[in-house]
Amino acid sequence: MSKISRRDFLQRSAMAAAAFTIAPNTILGKSHGHVAPTDKLNIAAVGIGGMGHANINAVKKTENIVALCDVDWKYAAGVFNEFPNAKKYWDWRKMYDEMGKDFDAVIVATADHTHCIIAATAMTLGKHVYVQKPLTHSVYESRLLTKLAEKYKVATQMGNQGASNPGVRQTCDWIWAGEIGEVTRVDCGTNRPIWPQGLPTPNGQWVPDTLNWDLFTGPAKLVPYNEVYHPWNWRGWWAYGTGALGDMACHVMHPIFKALQLGYPTKVQGSSTMLLSDCAPTAQSIKLTFPARASKDKKCKIKLPEVEVRWTDGGITPDIPKGFPADKQLDIDGPVIFHGTKDTLICGCYGRDPWLLSGRKPKSPKTQREITVSHEMDWVRACKESPESRVKTASDFSEAGPFNEMVVMGVLAVRLQGLHKELLWDGPNMNFTNISDTDTVEIVTKDKFTVKDGHPTFARDTEKLNAKEFAAEMIKHHYRAGWSLPQMP
Ligand SMILES: NC(=O)c1ccc[n+]([C@@H]2O[C@H](COP(=O)([O-])OP(=O)(O)OC[C@H]3O[C@@H](n4cnc5c(N)ncnc54)[C@H](O)[C@@H]3O)[C@@H](O)[C@H]2O)c1
Repeated sequence: MSKISRRDFLQRSAMAAAAFTIAPNTILGKSHGHVAPTDKLNIAAVGIGGMGHANINAVKKTENIVALCDVDWKYAAGVFNEFPNAKKYWDWRKMYDEMGKDFDAVIVATADHTHCIIAATAMTLGKHVYVQKPLTHSVYESRLLTKLAEKYKVATQMGNQGASNPGVRQTCDWIWAGEIGEVTRVDCGTNRPIWPQGLPTPNGQWVPDTLNWDLFTGPAKLVPYNEVYHPWNWRGWWAYGTGALGDMACHVMHPIFKALQLGYPTKVQGSSTMLLSDCAPTAQSIKLTFPARASKDKKCKIKLPEVEVRWTDGGITPDIPKGFPADKQLDIDGPVIFHGTKDTLICGCYGRDPWLLSGRKPKSPKTQREITVSHEMDWVRACKESPESRVKTASDFSEAGPFNEMVVMGVLAVRLQGLHKELLWDGPNMNFTNISDTDTVEIVTKDKFTVKDGHPTFARDTEKLNAKEFAAEMIKHHYRAGWSLPQMP
């Protein structure tokens, strides 16, 4: 950092850190001065044992890694050892409290349910944030991060790295130039989960000495630890993860959201294999309807009529379009098929390798900023630009926040499938308008299928929930005592 900008930053951060010590969840109303492009960023990271390590690796050559936080010191040991000069923490709140004045930016790569609280608090301290996908666990949390980013004017990036790749840009260029006409339906999905889901709730186990389960749980309800939750498999458990959607939809659906300039859906419907209260199902199908939209970008030359986006996962693939060449295959990780009035555009996960069903390869005007560095390094670039002249990253929260709302809306549609109707969504007010006060949903708490002497017995324990309250809790979670989010700006 230059002397002036460093001093400016330190003063503001020191004020913020002091205030944080007294009132951790107070909005501090400061954003710090910018770091000159030639200076190094001081970066802290929370959740370093998995994808966080890859994100750190992407920035470590040119920037300083000054603080590392993880709740599992065995799983994270290798990364801690790789950075002997970085201060090590169990609890990100303590790290922010003690080192708030010593870092400029935070990488967040914990389980989905803690992304928001870690990133939101960082932004109120004036820190730039790189947050893994899915951006958050709930609609409200996405809305909050979107608004905090706007208020604190920090550089933001969701970790859907395909957003910085040429496939998404080519998809936008072709669609915006009108090469496939108007799009009224998109099919997409993933072969995930490739890990087991649809599992019964496990019994508790002793927590290993190297893991702080209470801190892993954070704002969620504290339940007995089991190794099936952590590391990594938390993605299949509703309390911490968002199933196959949370794992893949931010990669797969991003070219759809961007190219078609989607906003809030107005209608949603979901179904799945057996829906359990705690574990995500083995396969799901979701339909999201978006109303006709006015283009926000002059470079887009087409009309944007109402469009239906259909998602399938768990081995259920989209229908293969008529005329599909025998020598091609849909990308199993994340097939996407844009059905246009003039042609069909097909691409893979991360918008990979788009092609047109007609076989044409038209040259269309470039509509998107070219990014030649990694997704993480483009965020580093944005961190060093002043808020007034900053060029947004490819997955800046102004886009990633609304986009992530679409992704977690899929979770809502599946978990409310027991209502057996298309749900009408009021995006601006974040509520469903056709769930009545007395509507209920029945969810399986235990599948008791048994076979005795060759005879199957089918039995299931279920719980009946008030649908409105259940929906409200999923839209905006009640956090556990002691954990709270900054106010919505
Ligand atoms: N962009 C990608 O391609 C990609 C790939 C994999 C994972 N991810 C995302 O990265 C995030 C992490 O996934 P993963 O596969 O690395 O999971 P993981 O369980 O392997 O790693 C998560 C790490 O965070 C730590 N952690 C969890 N809660 C914490 C907390 N409250 N404070 C500090 N540390 C905490 C864990 O101990 C672990 O080291 C998820 O949001 C996931 O969706 C993105």
